[in-house]
Amino acid sequence: MSSSTVITNIASLVTNDPSLGDTSPLGLIRDAAVVVDGDRVAWIGESSKAPATDNRVDVGGRAVIPGFVDSHSHLVFAGDRTEEFNARMSGRGYSAGGIRTTVAATRAATDAELEAGLVRYLAEALRQGTTTFETKSGYGLTVQDEARALRIASAHTDEVTYLGAHIVSPDYADDPAAYVALVTGEMLDACAPHARWIDVFCEKGAFDGDQARAILTAGKAKGLHPRIHANQLSYGPGVQLAVELDAASADHCTHLTDADVDALAAGRTVATLLPGAEFSTRAQWPDARRLLDAGVTVALSTDCNPGSSFTSSVPFCIALAVRDMGMTPDEAVWSATAGGAQALRRTDIGRLTPGAYADLALLDAPSHVHLAYRPGVPLVTGVWRRGVRVV
Ligand code: NIG
Ligand code: FE
Repeated sequence: MSSSTVITNIASLVTNDPSLGDTSPLGLIRDAAVVVDGDRVAWIGESSKAPATDNRVDVGGRAVIPGFVDSHSHLVFAGDRTEEFNARMSGRGYSAGGIRTTVAATRAATDAELEAGLVRYLAEALRQGTTTFETKSGYGLTVQDEARALRIASAHTDEVTYLGAHIVSPDYADDPAAYVALVTGEMLDACAPHARWIDVFCEKGAFDGDQARAILTAGKAKGLHPRIHANQLSYGPGVQLAVELDAASADHCTHLTDADVDALAAGRTVATLLPGAEFSTRAQWPDARRLLDAGVTVALSTDCNPGSSFTSSVPFCIALAVRDMGMTPDEAVWSATAGGAQALRRTDIGRLTPGAYADLALLDAPSHVHLAYRPGVPLVTGVWRRGVRVV
C-alpha cells in the first residue's frame, strides 16, 4: 500500500486546471494543499480542507507549480561548441552547419560517455524544476549512431525522438537524396523501436519541404508521431507542413507569415517557442503575443543543445519569454508546464489535478510570477517527481 503525504501551507498553487481555484487558465489556489498518494496527485484544495494523511510537509508559505515539461532538447551528444559561441558573440552568424562539429565528437564518444553527459544535463534540469523532458538523436547520422543515441535516451525518458534528419550526413554531402533514402529506410527501421516521435530540421542547409514530408510520412507509417523544427532561421514550409501532417508540435516558429499563424490557429499543432536559441544566436525573438492573440497553443522549452542553446533552464526561458516575446508571466508558466504537456500530447503531466502524476516544483517565492520577476535567481528549492521528493 502506498503512503499519502499532504504538502501544505502553499501560498499560491498553480494547478493548470481552470475548474479548480480562480477559474483562470492557471487554476490558481491560495492557501492551498496537495495530497500525494504513491506517484499521483490524490487531492487538491484549500489547506484548511485537506484530508488526513500519513505524512505532512509544511512549505512555509511558498509557491508550488507543476514540474516543467521540457518538450524539446538534444541531450545525447559529446564535446561542446565554446569556440563557435565565442565567434558568434564576436559577430559571426549561426548556421545549421555547426551541427557537424558535434556529429564528429558524438561519433567518437563511447556509449558510457554519451550516457554520462545525458545524466548530467538531466540532473541539472531536474534541479531547476524539470520533471519531464523530451530528447532527440541527431548527432550520429549513421544507422548505428542514431540507434544508439535513442537506446541511451530511452533508458531515461519515454519521450524520445528520432532526428536522423537533423542535417544531411557529411558522408552523403554529394548525394542528399541517398541520405533521405537511408533516413526513411534502414535507419528508420533501426530507430523506430526506440522512439515515440520523428522530427526533421526543415530549413535552408538542412531539409526542404518535400524531403521533410517524405521523412515524416515514412516515420508515421512505422508508428512514429511527427514534430518539426520549423521556420527557425528563415521563412519556409515547415509550419504548414506540421499542421498538414497533424504534428504534435512545430518548434521554433521564429519567422512566420500570416498564413503560418492562421494554419496553426486552425489545427491541433502546438507552437513550441525556444527562446534560448534566439538568445544564444543573437537572433530575432519569436512573437509569442502574435500567436497567442491568434488563438494558437504555445509551449516554451529549452532546446538544450551544445550549438544553438546550451541552457537546461526553463525558468531562464520563462524570463526571456516575458521580457522579450510579449508573454505575461501567467502565460509563460502555463506554456512551460501545460503547454509542454500538450506538445507531447500528454494529459497526465503539466497539471496538478487528481489522477495526474505528482510532479511538482516548490519555489522559494510567494508566487509563480517571481520566475520572471527574479530572472537568473535559482528559485526552485524542492522538486517531487512521481510523488518522490528528488530535490
Ligand atoms: O534546435 N535547429 C536545429 N537543431 C538545433 C541546433 C543544433 C545545433 O546547432 O547543434 C536547434 O536549434
Ligand atoms: Fe532543436
